[in-house]
Amino acid sequence: MPSKIAIPAQLINQFCCPKCFATSEESFVFENLKCNRCETDFFNLGNVPCFFPAGFHQKTIWQHQIATLLGNAEQGLNNIRESLARYDLSETTRKRLADIYKANLINRDSIKLLFEKKSVIAEYNEQLSSMNPGDLGEYFDLIFRDWAWDSVSLPSEENHNAFLRIKSLLDKLPQTPKNILVLGAGAGRLSWDLHNHLKPEFTLAVDSNPLLLAAADELIKQQQALQFGEFKLFPQASFPTTLTQSITPPDNATSNAHNWFLLGANVWNLPLSKSNFDLILTPWLIDVNGGDVRDLIGIIYNLLTPKGSWLNTGPLLFTRHLPLQLKYSHEEIKEFITLANMEVAAERIDQAQYLISPMEARLREEQVWSFAATRTKSNNSEPPPGVLASWLIMHHLPIPIMDFRLTQPHPLVEAIVALIDGEKSINNISNILVNQLPPGTAVIDVIVSILGQLLLERELST
Ligand SMILES: C[S@@+](CC[C@H](N)C(=O)[O-])C[C@H]1O[C@@H](n2cnc3c(N)ncnc32)[C@H](O)[C@@H]1O
Repeated sequence: MPSKIAIPAQLINQFCCPKCFATSEESFVFENLKCNRCETDFFNLGNVPCFFPAGFHQKTIWQHQIATLLGNAEQGLNNIRESLARYDLSETTRKRLADIYKANLINRDSIKLLFEKKSVIAEYNEQLSSMNPGDLGEYFDLIFRDWAWDSVSLPSEENHNAFLRIKSLLDKLPQTPKNILVLGAGAGRLSWDLHNHLKPEFTLAVDSNPLLLAAADELIKQQQALQFGEFKLFPQASFPTTLTQSITPPDNATSNAHNWFLLGANVWNLPLSKSNFDLILTPWLIDVNGGDVRDLIGIIYNLLTPKGSWLNTGPLLFTRHLPLQLKYSHEEIKEFITLANMEVAAERIDQAQYLISPMEARLREEQVWSFAATRTKSNNSEPPPGVLASWLIMHHLPIPIMDFRLTQPHPLVEAIVALIDGEKSINNISNILVNQLPPGTAVIDVIVSILGQLLLERELST
């Protein structure tokens, strides 16, 4: 099915296949949502192009996730219905349950309708049910925070402060950004506020969560209202149990939405091939993307123009399942930025309130780290203390040609060493070898440990 969105050619040319990396000059045809090289078909979420390495299968996963979300909502509604049928409820209890029932009902129907409008229909998949592909409702409250608790012309303190933190760093950038990429844009508010402030040639807002993408598309691009029920699970004195939130499109959507685009994609397999963005924003992303910040820095660096800048804002609340060695401190991340030939031009730490709903009695405050890092011309090849080479830490850096003595020849070691040409990085070598190794092999880890060992032996022998 062809793509229906009016993306400018200048932006379309930057797209590539997220699976085999064929470019638009090769076999990747953005307009047809197809890569003719690896034969992968992609799909639209309404008018939002979605390019994931799994291709159309990603839509099947989403359909299953939507069915699970709606199924759970249905189960919740059944439970409340059963409770309401009891004889031992006072009128007050009955009213509380009935209010929550109504809010749940609105959410079930609104979510179902929203996805139907985007032509992604809920469908349960037996095979996927044993795999736990994740909860689509994980970031549901962001829709309220971004669009329901305030308006663009009268922003809440939370949204306003989020924007001010970013705005204060814009002055430190070497140039006014024209092409903006926002990774992990969520329900879209910060990217929208930035877009309206900077008035760039275009903003591309990327996320992998279809509920947030669909809500952002509906409000900003389609300029259609949404309705959701907000409720808190715990009673709070003097606060309502539920609220029906009627969310209207931002008042400036008509004039400014034509060059603000949404893209469904995973930051680890972005369908973008060119270094054409002069600003990349990562709002509340670096700690929750399931990967290694070093690799994210590599991705960002490769997508930035030579004078481009990376703006980050958010806490370092790394997800529970991330191994301890990847829960980097501010200091470590700044070290990586320098190694990646970028310079932190400015930074700030703020205590910021988070998800403060008008119907929330509790406060949540997070430490938010915001910084601007700009690409530099210098080549920081000097590794930090304790490390043999910068390219061993930053897997996107080219590995220089050097003389390795292979004391214990092994086909894999020989294959890795043969690929070193002064340009390829550990990531490049990993992409070449991944299909030659058993599925599930942590290829990057294998390459790092082989080359680390060879480097050490080389150092000891000189
Ligand atoms: C904590 S939320 C922040 C959302 C938004 N930036 C904000 O400040 O409200 C993290 C966002 O990153 C997205 N995300 C997480 N991992 C991702 C990945 N690998 N690729 C694309 N998006 C991702 C989530 O779907 C979610 O919208």
